[in-house]
Amino acid sequence: MLELRNITRAYELGGERAGVFGVSLEVPKACLAVLAGPSGSGKTTLLQLAGLLDAPDEGEVRLDGETVSALPERARCNLRLRRLGFVFQAFNLVPVLSALENVMLPLQLQGLAEPEARGRAETALDRVGLSDRLHHRPGQLSGGQQQRAAIARALAPEPLLVLADEPTASLDHAHGGPLMDLMAALAQERGVTFLVASHDPAVIARAHRVFRLADGRLVSQD
Ligand SMILES: Nc1ncnc2c1ncn2[C@@H]1O[C@H](COP(=O)(O)OP(=O)(O)OP(=O)(O)O)[C@@H](O)[C@H]1O
Ligand SMILES: [Mg+2]
Repeated sequence: MLELRNITRAYELGGERAGVFGVSLEVPKACLAVLAGPSGSGKTTLLQLAGLLDAPDEGEVRLDGETVSALPERARCNLRLRRLGFVFQAFNLVPVLSALENVMLPLQLQGLAEPEARGRAETALDRVGLSDRLHHRPGQLSGGQQQRAAIARALAPEPLLVLADEPTASLDHAHGGPLMDLMAALAQERGVTFLVASHDPAVIARAHRVFRLADGRLVSQD
């Protein structure tokens, strides 16, 4: 489903070279895959490349057999909107909008009419257990609830691939596990593929596949 072929993205800063180097990996459909590795090992860099937010210096990103990394920015932007979902560590919910409006936003950006966007957003929020919090703004939700709202927002447009960077980092231990259980269930039910960057053992324990990075290189996969 997602394939990274021999990807290199190097950052040169003050004579030091960092980034990711020669990484190849494949994530099958409906898989919950985790990118693990210490701080600075290249997890976020790789997620940004897989999410078409950045382009590699060398190598290719392929989605469903198609090379997408070399497409013009406009086409990549379109793919991001229609086929990819993102969950960031800081959730990035819009503070002045309710949970429901936050989830409706990407649907309306895709051109869905208001009633249909509303229906789909309600379904997505219900799936993550937030049907009683539709009209709360992010500041009125707990950290775990905000995280689930962010997942509902990523999933409502029915993406093929969801990229999540440290999604449990601002949750306590008791919330990280159930969040991953939810992602694993969604992978099974909807056939969504997840690529999650994390060093949380609760996250790694629930992965279908783990890719370990060190110093920008892939050191193992299981
Ligand atoms: N824009 C940039 N310019 C220069 N160096 C960068 C840039 N972005 C990342 N790096 C460097 O590339 C390496 C990989 O960074 P990356 O953010 O991918 O690590 P990470 O595995 O996500 O770490 P963490 O677990 O701390 O989030 C680091 O050494 C970092 O300093
Ligand atoms: Mg990171």
